Amino acid sequence: MMTDDVKETRSDTNDGKVSVRCTVNGEAVTLRAYPIARLLDVLREELKLTGTKEGCGEGECGACSVIIEGELVNSCLVPVAQVEGASIKTVEGVASGETLHAVQRAMIECGGAQCGICTPGMVLAAVSLLERTPQPTAADIREGLAGNLCRCTGYTKIFEAVLRACGESQKSER
Ligand code: FES
Ligand code: FES
Repeated sequence: MMTDDVKETRSDTNDGKVSVRCTVNGEAVTLRAYPIARLLDVLREELKLTGTKEGCGEGECGACSVIIEGELVNSCLVPVAQVEGASIKTVEGVASGETLHAVQRAMIECGGAQCGICTPGMVLAAVSLLERTPQPTAADIREGLAGNLCRCTGYTKIFEAVLRACGESQKSER
């Protein structure tokens, strides 16, 4: 995703930072950051989108998940320069105004969140799954959540929340 736009901006500053233009939750933004700054940090520190969490910082836990160009990505592994021109969705962009996404409602109703560290990443993993596969099987759900670790819930309530979000009929497939 790195483009000439990023390279051009390197010469117009002497602090080593670049301007990265992208869209975050539907809003066009220009980020100023060192090119290898982690997208996770830029989202949290520059845009104050602190819903995106850091767990492992090594691409293993999924707590930092965001959706970039329709793909679930661990933002702790993404240098910000790579998102030039990209469309990014964070957990703050999942609800429609005051109306929670079905996954968010189901997480609340099923008790799928305890400490909450994994929750934004779980929500985005589930949203991403449902965008790709609106009627997932139980196996699809397990696979869709496989990259997201939770220390608290034992996963059952999270799994049930995603089932609920995609319809009561899916329960028979467990
Ligand atoms: Fe990014 Fe764990 S913090 S995968
Ligand atoms: Fe605590 Fe998942 S709710 S890590």
